[in-house]
Amino acid sequence: MTKERIGLGLIGTGNVGRIHLTGISSLIEAGLVNVQISALCDSDPKSLKEAAELFGVETVYEDYEGLINDEGVNIVYVCTPTSKHGDMVKATAKAGKHVFCEKPLAHSTPQARELLMVTKDAGVMAGVGLVLRLDQLLLYAKNLLAKHDFGKPILAHIRDDQRFPVDYIYYSKWRGDRSIAGGGTLIEHSIHDIDILQWFLGDVESVYAKIGFFAGREVEDQASLIMTHKDGAVSTLDSIWHWVERPNERRIEFFFEKGYMGIALESEKRFLDYQLQGQSPVRVSEIETRSTLLNHLGLVEKKLSPDVVEVLTEVGSERYAALSYSFLKAILSGNAPSPDFMDAIAAHKVVDAAYRSSSESRCVEQL
Ligand SMILES: NC(=O)c1ccc[n+]([C@@H]2O[C@H](COP(=O)([O-])OP(=O)(O)OC[C@H]3O[C@@H](n4cnc5c(N)ncnc54)[C@H](O)[C@@H]3O)[C@@H](O)[C@H]2O)c1
Repeated sequence: MTKERIGLGLIGTGNVGRIHLTGISSLIEAGLVNVQISALCDSDPKSLKEAAELFGVETVYEDYEGLINDEGVNIVYVCTPTSKHGDMVKATAKAGKHVFCEKPLAHSTPQARELLMVTKDAGVMAGVGLVLRLDQLLLYAKNLLAKHDFGKPILAHIRDDQRFPVDYIYYSKWRGDRSIAGGGTLIEHSIHDIDILQWFLGDVESVYAKIGFFAGREVEDQASLIMTHKDGAVSTLDSIWHWVERPNERRIEFFFEKGYMGIALESEKRFLDYQLQGQSPVRVSEIETRSTLLNHLGLVEKKLSPDVVEVLTEVGSERYAALSYSFLKAILSGNAPSPDFMDAIAAHKVVDAAYRSSSESRCVEQL
């Protein structure tokens, strides 16, 4: 870590922008990252003023170019609605600054690829908000696979539901506007699920999808996909935006030749079940998995205060603190962050193929 504090600027002080600001502030307070939040930007003056007061940031901009070209800003977080990501990432790269961009990176794979090229050409590092890569239950699952012989993967299923996010917890009218969001439950929400499936089972090689518009909106509210991965494993995804006031729920199941794993990822009670051939089933609670995340971050639990452990490992918005820690630690030590734009592109390829599959009523091969 360098001695001088690195300046961080954040564009988009809405829902996820504030979640990141909370996480980053906690990391700074805990002495875990040597950065300071130097500037904020939002085109909505009310949101900007509120966030500036809340996080004690003096320098504010309503125009993103101002923040990006501010000499005190070395790293830029892009947390605006999806259609704005491209111009902001390009301007950040042009200014020679490192960038963290929220998912989805763009509306399509070619657009996402362009952003990767722009950052590569500029020689800047680029991270993406595929936050489930820092989920402790998923990291624990990954470790189990490395430690035990589950055999080859055969089948995986993710069932992901969320209240239509236009007027509920994630209140945002733009999520109902295709020209801004790029699509609905698949690209805006379940791009995370596609990322998980490829992370566990390898690249998707073919997709068959049915996409529905039951609410009569311009963005889809249902997406069901059957995917074949590179070694033949099959995964299915059911993603829905519904109108019932219930908490988001994400359930994942993996069947291997010699084992099973089931993960309640977003239920009120999070846990992981697994069973190996010839052995009894095991339930792992959330608390048992936290040292896995800390190890993954290169931290030792015994050396941390309970507050710091809580910042990094508690469920909900705290996953974002772990993601920021991982991203900032990489940038500050001159290493490539993970997840990165390549991971985002891999997920975008499947999303694009699923939209094509559904509109052409055919299986899309070789994405
Ligand atoms: N990684 C995750 O789990 C996760 C979770 C939520 C949202 N997101 C992503 O983050 C992005 C933002 O989502 P959100 O829920 O925070 O939206 P939001 O509407 O709550 O916040 C977006 C903010 O950007 C501001 N903005 C819009 N255009 C701007 C511009 N040109 N210049 C400056 N500010 C501008 C808006 O005024 C608003 O304050 C989206 O791409 C979304 O998909 C990711």
